[in-house]
Amino acid sequence: MEKKEMLYEGKAKKVYTTEDPDVLIVSYKDDATAFNGLKKGTIVGKGAINNRMTNFIFKKLEEQGVPTHLVEELNDRETAVKKVEIVPLEVIMRNYSAGSFAKKMGMEEGVKFKCPTLEFSYKNDDLGDPFINSYYALALELATQEEIDDITKYAFKVNEVLQQYFDALNIDLIDFKIEFGRYHGKIILADEISPDTCRLWDKDTHEKLDKDRFRRDLGGVEDAYEEVFRRLGIQ
Ligand code: TMP
Repeated sequence: MEKKEMLYEGKAKKVYTTEDPDVLIVSYKDDATAFNGLKKGTIVGKGAINNRMTNFIFKKLEEQGVPTHLVEELNDRETAVKKVEIVPLEVIMRNYSAGSFAKKMGMEEGVKFKCPTLEFSYKNDDLGDPFINSYYALALELATQEEIDDITKYAFKVNEVLQQYFDALNIDLIDFKIEFGRYHGKIILADEISPDTCRLWDKDTHEKLDKDRFRRDLGGVEDAYEEVFRRLGIQ
């Protein structure tokens, strides 16, 4: 599978067309941004780690009945994926208080919830990805009720599978963000699942093993990404 032309360059990935109109190639970059692009930097090796970790996790999710855009890993940084129309929702699952939730609710970080919680943001950089609920999504025609139902069902399933998986690696899955796309009329999981899009804390030390190290200038960013990759045991 060969790249033809670049379709789009985002903050962390480039996307290329291929000879197959149903298939794109994503190429993961080492570039990192935070706060809607205000903070910029490089995390050496991140592109390869996020690419390989996403594919590894997407395969596990497929086995558990969650359809994904994964077609084939091409090399360390590049993967062939199904061409979807992205649903403009950031779907956020939380198991513990952290980040914007902790701030909004005036809570300390790291408090475990009685049950996982789901929230949506409208994926719109100009508006700063505002928090919305499913009624906003329907009113703005971002998704249909049926799509929201599928997204909700899959989001809880992804959380269940990931929580169990990370638990065995001595990692608490604090929260994460996923995105979905439409592929021939069906909702499938797209984008990535990586330390860029999850909060992952070591169970014993509560050390942050994710992009918060970059967002908050905590240092040891590369080491944290490598540690998660190492624990996953990806060959
Ligand atoms: P938040 O607490 O800042 O709302 O973030 C919740 C989760 O979503 C956290 O795991 C980080 C992830 N996230 C992204 O993947 N992209 C983003 O642009 C933001 C703001 C958060």
